Amino acid sequence: MKILITGASSGLGEELARQYAHNDNELIFLARRELKLYALRKELYEKCKSVEVIVADVTEFDTLQKKLSQIKSLDMVILNAGVSLGHSSDEDYIPTIAEFEKLYRVNVLSTHAILEVLLPLFKAQKSGKIVFISSLASLFSMPSSKVYSSSKRALNAYAEGIRYKYNKYGIKVINILPGFIKSELTDKNDFNMPFILDTEVGVAKIVKAIAKNKRQYIFPLRFYLIIKLLNILPNFLREKIVNSIN
Ligand SMILES: NC(=O)c1ccc[n+]([C@@H]2O[C@H](COP(=O)([O-])OP(=O)(O)OC[C@H]3O[C@@H](n4cnc5c(N)ncnc54)[C@H](OP(=O)(O)O)[C@@H]3O)[C@@H](O)[C@H]2O)c1
Repeated sequence: MKILITGASSGLGEELARQYAHNDNELIFLARRELKLYALRKELYEKCKSVEVIVADVTEFDTLQKKLSQIKSLDMVILNAGVSLGHSSDEDYIPTIAEFEKLYRVNVLSTHAILEVLLPLFKAQKSGKIVFISSLASLFSMPSSKVYSSSKRALNAYAEGIRYKYNKYGIKVINILPGFIKSELTDKNDFNMPFILDTEVGVAKIVKAIAKNKRQYIFPLRFYLIIKLLNILPNFLREKIVNSIN
């Protein structure tokens, strides 16, 4: 299988690379940190058929699209590159418009920049898997994660539309909504993260869901059920709970 993994230089993407590095798989790693990508390539290239590195910033859309247009066949893209703003406990903190825009460029707009190039390829092949890495945070917006949550909710809506449009062409769309998993992104959080999973364990769950072609995979289940419950509570009660947690 030929697989493009964005955000392969750390966290979930790096572990996805490790877990797909076997047998005849041909891997393409994409991120900005060149040294980390080449170190990963060195570690993994003997375990699979091939490893290619694309050093790119997913928000530099023209350059990104030029680089991706060199790909002539592909079985799966994992749209994993993503950022958060961190959680500030400062009551007066308001994210700047520049921070907001940057996050949306990475978490939302870059996925379309990538798919604008790859969808015609998948359509011509009559096959292909598109994996979105959304988040459980897309289902519930805490005051301190509103920008991140809203970006992942936008991603859910986009993924859903892509699925309806392209399933008739043999293209499978899989949306993954993880809870907390250990990574550089979560290492920045200075609060207690409920049900946090080790990177290897969390990514193994993602790989299994992809193999089963699950349209949507939300985990860990216990965390998902809590969020589901919060979402069916009357608004006034939910607000009370959120304010007490916050
Ligand atoms: N960890 C969690 O608990 C969790 C939960 C739910 C969803 N997620 C999602 O999982 C994905 C991976 O996150 P992670 O936790 O593994 O975080 P991470 O360790 O910080 O990894 C983020 C990856 O995205 C890449 N990236 C960021 N900005 C980029 C840019 N402008 N251009 C190219 N690549 C860029 C980074 O590479 P470079 O810096 O080298 O460019 C890095 O490889 C994200 O979409 C995140 O929202 C994570």
